[in-house]
Amino acid sequence: MMRILVTAGPTREAIDIVRFISNRSSGRMGYAIARVGARRGHEIRLVSGPVCLAPPAGVGAEHVTSAAEMLAALMERVAWCDVLIMTAAVADWRPAHPVAGKLKKADGTPQIELVRTPDILEEVGPLKGDRLFVGFAAEAGDPVPEARRKLRDKGLDLVVANDIARRDSGFETSTNRVSLVHARGVETLPLLPKEAVAEHILVRVEAMRRRAGH
Ligand code: CTP
Repeated sequence: MMRILVTAGPTREAIDIVRFISNRSSGRMGYAIARVGARRGHEIRLVSGPVCLAPPAGVGAEHVTSAAEMLAALMERVAWCDVLIMTAAVADWRPAHPVAGKLKKADGTPQIELVRTPDILEEVGPLKGDRLFVGFAAEAGDPVPEARRKLRDKGLDLVVANDIARRDSGFETSTNRVSLVHARGVETLPLLPKEAVAEHILVRVEAMRRRAGH
């Protein structure tokens, strides 16, 4: 049994109290991991951005909106876990000066200055210890070279990489075609329902954890 912390969905970065910047993540991959993980007997906690999905039965979920909130939720929870699986599509930029009210057309077209959001994996890196950290890499084109770079640069144990330029894979689909990239090689899976992808990821993580002597 492992304690698995899963992040899922997009984040939203406020422009004003009505509008935001976000991305196409549906949360389905992360929720599939949470569901399959619970079914495989693991203890799961979910930190979720705004999605239209119900948390799986028996899985505690913390709902967050922005990248900053997701980071704060993880800082509190990483110490609890054996494995962190970051499926969340964290928005990389946020408006520098969110407006406390509503922008009005009469005030003209806003020029929105963007700044970087925190890199969550980088921020929680110092808490890693002997935990396994799993990242996702959504790339337009062959994802494996970028996944290898992220494995190295982000100090990850496993990167799940997919080509989002394909219509049957990636955002807003129920299927995914991924490669699992780790220090021992690359495992490219066929097009599968996201639950089956989740099963493969968890089998791999369980094996890595056993190999590490747990
Ligand atoms: N991630 C994160 N914090 C961010 C952005 C991404 O923790 N602000 C995590 C994602 O959850 C994912 C992994 O980092 O597991 C890779 O995300 P991606 O956006 O592909 O990585 P980057 O290196 O930020 O992307 P790129 O170089 O392609 O812009």
